[in-house]
Amino acid sequence: MTQQTWDEVGDLLPHDEFCAVGDAIVANIEQVIEGKTATVQLALAVLLAEGHLLIEDVPGVGKTKLAKALARSIDCSVRRIQFTPDLLPSDVTGVSVYNQETHDFEFRPGAVFANLVVGDEINRASPKTQSALLECMEERQVTVDGMTYPLQTPFMVVATQNPIEMEGTYPLPEAQRDRFTARIAMGYPDVGAELAMLDGHGGTDPLESLRPVSDAGIVSRLITHVRQVHVADAVKRYAVELVTATREAPDLRLGASPRATLQLLRTARAVAALEGRDYVLPDDLQVLAVPVLAHRIIPTADAQLARRTTDTIVSELVHRLPLPQERRRSSYDTRPATDSGRAPYEPRRA
Ligand SMILES: Nc1ncnc2c1ncn2[C@@H]1O[C@H](COP(=O)(O)OP(=O)(O)OP(=O)(O)O)[C@@H](O)[C@H]1O
Ligand SMILES: [Mg+2]
Repeated sequence: MTQQTWDEVGDLLPHDEFCAVGDAIVANIEQVIEGKTATVQLALAVLLAEGHLLIEDVPGVGKTKLAKALARSIDCSVRRIQFTPDLLPSDVTGVSVYNQETHDFEFRPGAVFANLVVGDEINRASPKTQSALLECMEERQVTVDGMTYPLQTPFMVVATQNPIEMEGTYPLPEAQRDRFTARIAMGYPDVGAELAMLDGHGGTDPLESLRPVSDAGIVSRLITHVRQVHVADAVKRYAVELVTATREAPDLRLGASPRATLQLLRTARAVAALEGRDYVLPDDLQVLAVPVLAHRIIPTADAQLARRTTDTIVSELVHRLPLPQERRRSSYDTRPATDSGRAPYEPRRA
């Protein structure tokens, strides 16, 4: 297996090229998923933020379709794991088997050895198998029988699951949920989108004819581009204040982790870049607070009794927290200043 390193991914893409590739991937997925532009954009942002995505919703709303369409839009290695109660951890990570001819053990890679791993119905597997993904997702490597094997670059897990109150599901442990950068719900399509689905999907499945519009090399360059997006100190502080607010909220038994803060900022960089900016705005963090934070936190028993969802609690925190006022520029910032003190958007030249 060849392992691509960040040194090999080439120069930064020009801004307009970055946006063109992003738009092409979104448009491609929208050939299959009707009326869900914001959801599709967020899925792409998570990929570019080097994160993992959890798609949670009731049956039949296009979760698997979205995961497969994203995988198909990028010409990279894709593996799909259907999680069932009898799936073994070694099916996910791989196993050492004895080779009679060489009289030695050899490693048979499991399903995580791919750029994009689609874990379908992840909460139907036993907790032991679910936790086989822990090391892979955080450390991007697999350890079997004392040997460590690196995973591919880029690497993303897109998992789908039904809400936990559905039958035959094992809720994901907190540590597993915390590894998902964002959780999104599909929601029902509106009437127009559902009619379009009937017209477009009535006969053949559009997924069959979907062609890739990008590949692993391009995605690696997009990711490098996202890493360069500027975040002002005041915006970083706002991200920390937002996460700290979840730790202090009386309605919450468990707040968001520092891992959540990192992932919030990374996703904000990706969203900013996809919108053609090379700096993050506090609004990016506000928009992402619910998808990035709400699945990691646990409400108190009282909040649960009052049927307050974590989505509502996070939205309220966002509304209550004052926006950063400070517009002081970093002493390292050499870009021309505007009246607001924030550097204007300037396309990067390769
Ligand atoms: N917004 C949508 N646009 C286009 N097709 C849709 C949409 N929502 C659902 N569908 C269609 O509904 C069918 C079911 O979708 P899919 O299998 O992805 O559901 P799911 O959410 O994974 O369900 P389950 O939880 O049962 O696995 C597919 O044929 C899919 O194309
Ligand atoms: Mg499905």
